[in-house]
Amino acid sequence: MAKTVSHFVCRTCGGVQSRWMGKCPDCGAWDALERYTPAPVAREAHRSIADAWTESGARAGDAEGAGSTASAALIDGAQPIACVEPPVHRRIGTGSAELDRVLGEGFVPGSVVLLGGDPGIGKSTLLLQTAGRLARGGSTVLYVSSEESAFQTRLRAERVLVPVGAASADPAAGAALPGLDSLLVLAETDLARVAEQARRHRPGVLIIDSIQLIHRGDVSGAPGSVSQVRRCATDLVYLAKVSGMVVILVGHVTKDGQLAGPRLIEHMVDVVLSFEGERHRPHRVVRAVKNRFGSTQEVALFAMTERGLEDLDPSLTRLDPSAAPRPGTVVASVMHGTRCLLVEIQALVAGTFPGTARRRVSGLDANRLAMAIAVLEQHLGLALGDQDVFASAAGGLKVVEPAVDLAMALAIAGAARRRTLPPGTAVFGEVGLGGEIRPVHQQELRAEEAHRRGYRHVILSAEGEVRVPRGVEATRVRTLADAGALLGAPLQSTPAPTDGDTPEPRGTTRPRRRIESARRA
Ligand code: TYD
Ligand code: MG
Repeated sequence: MAKTVSHFVCRTCGGVQSRWMGKCPDCGAWDALERYTPAPVAREAHRSIADAWTESGARAGDAEGAGSTASAALIDGAQPIACVEPPVHRRIGTGSAELDRVLGEGFVPGSVVLLGGDPGIGKSTLLLQTAGRLARGGSTVLYVSSEESAFQTRLRAERVLVPVGAASADPAAGAALPGLDSLLVLAETDLARVAEQARRHRPGVLIIDSIQLIHRGDVSGAPGSVSQVRRCATDLVYLAKVSGMVVILVGHVTKDGQLAGPRLIEHMVDVVLSFEGERHRPHRVVRAVKNRFGSTQEVALFAMTERGLEDLDPSLTRLDPSAAPRPGTVVASVMHGTRCLLVEIQALVAGTFPGTARRRVSGLDANRLAMAIAVLEQHLGLALGDQDVFASAAGGLKVVEPAVDLAMALAIAGAARRRTLPPGTAVFGEVGLGGEIRPVHQQELRAEEAHRRGYRHVILSAEGEVRVPRGVEATRVRTLADAGALLGAPLQSTPAPTDGDTPEPRGTTRPRRRIESARRA
């Protein structure tokens, strides 16, 4: 009999070590290694749940809406490659244009999708809304809630799935949920029970919210442990392949943004979606980190409202090209997937004591902020050593591409010198360490989007040929100093603006000092 060797697996990154260590050498997480002993009969055992499906008389591809032949091949065994039929991927539309875009035209039957994100970001909301739309479209959906009771799920559904104006006359009776007879809710954590219910109801889509709380009674370890997460996920992947069901797994990420638990199963699933955003701001982004059936370039944009997540029309982000610009704000053309969006980049520069200066970002890359500050000091002569610098991308969308460098640098310079760009200006370009402005990809698309949104002036790199739409004035700059010269005359700025849009970070701002630094500039 083969000897069973146990090893140690990191709960955070999935790295495997031969001995226990306090700190994972792969990802640096403390106290995350856990002993893992593969079961000697793993192959037989992990198939037991899925095999019970086939033994019960259900055939491969039996789930409603299943059209994939991949599952049939799993049952039939090896076959000559030339005999493999192209799969009939009849995709299941999700009813959300944004989600369809990131999945690549909807779910593929028999596929497994992992949705990861911070707790409280909106994963359950998104999936319940998707489940509701699928059910109203005629699919059977089994929503397994392992974290919340069926009643809690119903309450959420009353919030996000009740048609507008259909509130019940008697609030105590709850709102009616019309058209949702085929949306089944199961509050369960035992995988065997989940599989049994799936066998009984044959859903087209099975949602597991979340994988970290699902367990198998015959596997050691608490729910969420490496052995449980891996084993349950393997079973569910196999179940998806033999049944043709779409299986959606929810996984929470840890504080530092790693897909914990889920990291261990990323390689087994077909699609990994990452849900991003800031809890206290409305915008949410769903990004495909891995997609066996589509591009990983696309992103879905949503806004969290009191009635759940709504597809975000980028042109609805509040920006007014004719408004008088404020110092410290610059509009940037940024790419999200294959789409261009205009985002306001804001900066605040406030005096503090040398040695205590803080640099903080929200929705931007902290390393790129540090670099922008260094380049501004070198090439524009700004003295920011005794200044706090705050920079943020308005609205809560995360913008980390280098193309936003120039806008960030101009926002900081504008904030420090109390100057602004002309109204109706959009900016894109990467700032090099030598202070040069480099071209970025998709420049024409960025200029077109600016034009479409009413911006009549773009600032971009002087390198390369770019055709801008008629009616748009393009200013091509070689260096950050050239770009800085486009910031107009200093505004007469005392007292400090009171429009409430630029919060003072703490009580250390002294208007006198600001005026002095503006004079120095
Ligand atoms: P939830 O879907 O429970 O997050 P997750 O499953 O990722 O943990 O989202 C919870 C948050 O979303 C909560 O803070 C409240 C907010 N929310 C809304 O703003 N509007 C809504 O209609 C709903 C249902 C939730
Ligand atoms: Mg949840």
